[in-house]
Amino acid sequence: MSWLVPDIFQTLTVPSHPLLPPKLVAGGDGLPSATASRRHLHLLLMRFKPSATNFHHFAKHDLNNHHHLTAFSTLTQTLTSHPTQSPTTADDHLCSDTTSEPLPNHEFSFSEPPDLQLTREARIERAWSHWKKLGEPKVIVAPMVDNSELPFRILCRRYGAEAAYTPMLHSRIFSENEKYRSQEFTTCKEDRPLLIQFCANDPETLLQAARRVESHCDYVDINLGCPQRIARRGNYGAFLMDKLPLIKSLVEKLALNLAVPVSCKIRIFPDLQDTLNYAKMLEEAGCSLLAVHGRTRDEKDGKNIRANWDAIRAVKNALGIPVLANGNIRHMDDVRNCMEQTGADGILSAESLLENPALFAGFDDHGKVDRGELVVEYLKLCEKYPVPWRMIRSHVHKMLGESFRIHPHVREDLNKQSRLSFEFLYGMVDRLRDLGVTRLIYEGTCSESVSGNKDREL
Ligand SMILES: Cc1cc2nc3c(=O)[nH]c(=O)nc-3n(C[C@H](O)[C@H](O)[C@H](O)COP(=O)(O)O)c2cc1C
Repeated sequence: MSWLVPDIFQTLTVPSHPLLPPKLVAGGDGLPSATASRRHLHLLLMRFKPSATNFHHFAKHDLNNHHHLTAFSTLTQTLTSHPTQSPTTADDHLCSDTTSEPLPNHEFSFSEPPDLQLTREARIERAWSHWKKLGEPKVIVAPMVDNSELPFRILCRRYGAEAAYTPMLHSRIFSENEKYRSQEFTTCKEDRPLLIQFCANDPETLLQAARRVESHCDYVDINLGCPQRIARRGNYGAFLMDKLPLIKSLVEKLALNLAVPVSCKIRIFPDLQDTLNYAKMLEEAGCSLLAVHGRTRDEKDGKNIRANWDAIRAVKNALGIPVLANGNIRHMDDVRNCMEQTGADGILSAESLLENPALFAGFDDHGKVDRGELVVEYLKLCEKYPVPWRMIRSHVHKMLGESFRIHPHVREDLNKQSRLSFEFLYGMVDRLRDLGVTRLIYEGTCSESVSGNKDREL
């Protein structure tokens, strides 16, 4: 059963916990103690539900992953144009493999019978059944171009994220270009539950792209919220809000033809009733999970414009499928408040998670988060799971932004590097430590740190 051991967790030195069942602590047939302890502690101390229920989810989730793992061992891949080529096994990476057969690892098929022939109640029940099978993730890494790539997703998962989206992938380029696929999409066996997001404006192209990845994710997601100029030019994202019949056909195409469910991420309309009609249309078209970013297409400044949680609440009340809330999640208090106020089934965080990937573990600026330590952990993941340097550079800037504000000359030195190296980056973190602007993340033990935040329990 060694395939159950997520080796990404093995660098953690977390004490075992008396509440953890021996089977999971012991290794052997179970998980290594560090893995089990960390996740179990997190579930016990930070979560929304009684610990017994959560433990059930935890065990169930890891067992569910078994279905996917065999798939990975059949795949081989090469990664090109990455910063380093560490020795890897076929299990370590997955880029969509153009030659691999679709992998029938979903006992719960959405494609037979066609989704739209089911009654609304049956579709909703099926959507919930799938969501429950995934353990009803509550705190989720939002999709972020160049930023929610594999090493960052794993880092966030280590610190409490229960699911993650990939960055938006361009469905046409993804279908056509092998290099794009291998550079922009990697995953590994620990990277679940996973939502793979595409932008699209052609149903057939979207389906072709989705078919390449459906075996390796838990949802194929459609980006209906990108408000950037590039999305206007490319006719995708939030600019499809002017073309609702096209959106409907995109969702229907996937719902009718994929073996995994379809999710959508939307922005709201200025008018609430328009938003509700839109959300209902998506549900009817076969969307099984809806993430609502509570800002309109024109409200691009997420730092200064508050997301409208009332609108998210109205969408949640109008729909039967699981609904996720997005916007204004900066720390765990926001998670609790947002879920209370919106009634949403989970939340996504983006910007704040970039600055603090340990956000979902309850570490915050007043707690014991040390960005330098997180950067080192992230860099090690990048050595193991190579990604383009632009992504690494972006994360280093975001995570160390505060330290750079205090010591701008260190940032200037970083900016001067036209070619980065891991050696340079590790050295830079050491330099910041010497300057006294970083602090160890675990000043006590993990359990102390987590229980220290018990008053933040949801
Ligand atoms: C760097 C960055 C990249 C993003 N890329 C995507 C994307 O690929 N797809 C998407 O649907 N939203 C994308 N977003 C939007 C976020 O997913 C999220 O909806 C938005 O930032 C609001 O959440 P927040 O208030 O937690 O930041 C991106 C946001 C950021 C900051």
